[in-house]
Amino acid sequence: MLHDLFRKGRDFLGVEYPIISGGMTWISDFTLVKAVSDAGAFPVFASGNMPPDMFEKEVDRLVEKLEKPFGVNLITIAPNYRNHMEILLEKDVPFVVFAGNFPKKRDVIKMKDAGKKTMSFASTKSIAAKQIGWGIDSLLLEGSEAGGHIGNVSLTVLLQQVLFEFHDFPIFVAGGIATGKMMAHLLLMGAYGVQMGTVFAMSEESCAHEKFKKAFIKARARQAVATPQYDSKLPVVAVRAIFNKGMGQFGKLQFELLKKLADNRITREKAQYEIESYWAGTLRQAVQEGDVENGSLMAGQSVGLINEVKPIKEIIKTFAEEASEELELLKIQFSRFH
Ligand SMILES: Cc1cc2nc3c(=O)[nH]c(=O)nc-3n(C[C@H](O)[C@H](O)[C@H](O)COP(=O)(O)O)c2cc1C
Repeated sequence: MLHDLFRKGRDFLGVEYPIISGGMTWISDFTLVKAVSDAGAFPVFASGNMPPDMFEKEVDRLVEKLEKPFGVNLITIAPNYRNHMEILLEKDVPFVVFAGNFPKKRDVIKMKDAGKKTMSFASTKSIAAKQIGWGIDSLLLEGSEAGGHIGNVSLTVLLQQVLFEFHDFPIFVAGGIATGKMMAHLLLMGAYGVQMGTVFAMSEESCAHEKFKKAFIKARARQAVATPQYDSKLPVVAVRAIFNKGMGQFGKLQFELLKKLADNRITREKAQYEIESYWAGTLRQAVQEGDVENGSLMAGQSVGLINEVKPIKEIIKTFAEEASEELELLKIQFSRFH
């Protein structure tokens, strides 16, 4: 039964399991991507704001070494977005995953014309409809339970608003998922598959610092909180991370920038750029240096469901087993209804 439920996602992605390891800046590097691919799932390489020459080298390595389809993240709000895009157009990369804001129609068309399948996040019904109209090949429906930059709507609501409305469209669901049981239910609801981040950030193959992974193991779901926006004069995309000193510092940064805006000492665009630089810098600090106090511990509420660091092959295998068991249980439950 699981095999049948996997079919549409598997055919779309071209891998054994319709499980996507979401692109995570500083974390989804070649090693993680290769490990996910070798385990039969679908990896997304994170480009963040990588210098273009480094980005090109990494993409070439992926094209050369990976035998199965994979995706490359393109962050539309990164200063190097245009450079990354031009590089990718020339490369034999099968999937492009737009993140940040949703992409411009012309960028989607360019990628499709270059023979790539396109994926993008949708955090509301209207954004989903717009992108489907533009010819996006697949959507990532991510609830606000997710880690990193997030939308404001929970997965429960998005499932009803988007998944149930766009039945046959390839939609992969994300945010707060950390068990095969949950995946089984989402597939039954019509999802093509799932995307996860936190689970993979905590894997054995993840390059994240040991202290980063330890903090994740200790954390409860309620500790992975979303940042507030203090004033609509400075719109900020919420970030979900484990609460620490760094989250408090972000609050102070917002106030400082608002004051500068009020005094006309900074433009709104520059202020937003400073905020994104803050996140990129503090995430690096936590992931690479293990500064779990001041760095950003971006994590989904799924962090509360994971208690150990495991190799990726085992994660995927356990997921498939749990999903199969759940489906068997459901079959028994349904059989009682006669
Ligand atoms: C540490 C971290 C960094 C992330 N960075 C990115 C990113 O650079 N690009 C992106 O598309 N999504 C990013 N995400 C989101 C993930 O790809 C994924 O959609 C999300 O983690 C799913 O929710 P979950 O963490 O509950 O599984 C990040 C998530 C985490 C936890």
